[in-house]
Amino acid sequence: MKECDTMPNVTIIEPEEMIGCFKESLAENDNLCLYIDLPFCRSNCLYCIYHSLPYKELLEHREEYANAVFEQLDLFKEIMQMKPLKSVYFGGGTPSLWTEQELSEIISRIPGYDSIESVKSEMHPYDLDDRRIEFYAENLHLKIASLGVQSLDADACKGQRRLYVSPDKLKHIVDEFHKYGIYVNIDLVALFNGDTEKEWHIFENDIHTVTEYIKPDVITSVPNYRTKLDYISQLPRLRIILASVCSDIYVPSHPKILSLDEEDIKQYGKNDHWIGTKEFFDFIRKNFRYCCSPPAKGNLNDQATIAIGGAGEHYVYSYTKDGRTFYSAYDFDEKAFVYYRCDD
Ligand SMILES: C[S@@+](CC[C@H](N)C(=O)[O-])C[C@H]1O[C@@H](n2cnc3c(N)ncnc32)[C@H](O)[C@@H]1O
Ligand code: SF4
Repeated sequence: MKECDTMPNVTIIEPEEMIGCFKESLAENDNLCLYIDLPFCRSNCLYCIYHSLPYKELLEHREEYANAVFEQLDLFKEIMQMKPLKSVYFGGGTPSLWTEQELSEIISRIPGYDSIESVKSEMHPYDLDDRRIEFYAENLHLKIASLGVQSLDADACKGQRRLYVSPDKLKHIVDEFHKYGIYVNIDLVALFNGDTEKEWHIFENDIHTVTEYIKPDVITSVPNYRTKLDYISQLPRLRIILASVCSDIYVPSHPKILSLDEEDIKQYGKNDHWIGTKEFFDFIRKNFRYCCSPPAKGNLNDQATIAIGGAGEHYVYSYTKDGRTFYSAYDFDEKAFVYYRCDD
């Protein structure tokens, strides 16, 4: 064991130590979840807070990285055999860049995959066509597709080097997923190119087009985290816009999400503002366990999460229900995943 010099208060460990902790701590009523990360993107958007790696590195390292992920899944199999998984979450980076063959390899290594209640994947809509959506439905048994859209304004996307996808294509994608009974989330970022009147106007247009034309099951929206260090002052205006599209169809995930009371703003939905259908929120409440990668942090549910993937500075974190946290990422020089125990 040695101290890790890139992150404070962590110690490099062998993955067996993490496996041992999971085995020791898994209790009868814990929800065990699996997070799998693909830390590469087709184009690295300027606003993004994740440390994803560029596409050329995916082209260079794809096989090596995928094989390493398969090996980790085999290594952690004994924990997944101890307790059936509640959910699998494909995150990133851009998990829609996994090939169908790689995804098939992944799920073949997950014990009891076909009985898992909730499978969710983030995806860039640019990567989707009807064939791929059919694969997600028929082979991956996806329950929630989460589309990174951010803005429907072509110039706003260009300003952030974000690959643009038109509202018509997005509507088609949502309709296709719905044919298979898959819920769809759309991520929208307000103030994509800065805190200006023009950008507020773009967000207002976007939210109307999404709710009135594209019609996903849920919309997740936040002001661009990069516009201000403390973006809480932007939330009241965001909430007023969201409230204007709430109706019988779209409701907030929690009534206080749209409150303008300062304490409510601090307490509820500081980071995520979900408006969606009642049916979707019922599904989430019953079935879904969140898994996420840094910079999101904390044990969000009564769950333990095994996270596999990440590379370079794009770490993923695993945690047991009793509060033990581990970071990991693939190291291309070492040609191995490196695991860290968080000593905080
Ligand atoms: C891992 S990405 C989603 C999947 C895929 N890479 C994509 O962009 O379509 C997760 C989400 O983080 C959000 N995000 C990233 N940087 C952000 C920022 N600066 N402010 C607000 N949200 C941000 C975006 O909404 C993005 O969809
Ligand atoms: S927003 Fe998505 S596609 Fe863009 S850099 Fe971030 S993770 Fe990659």
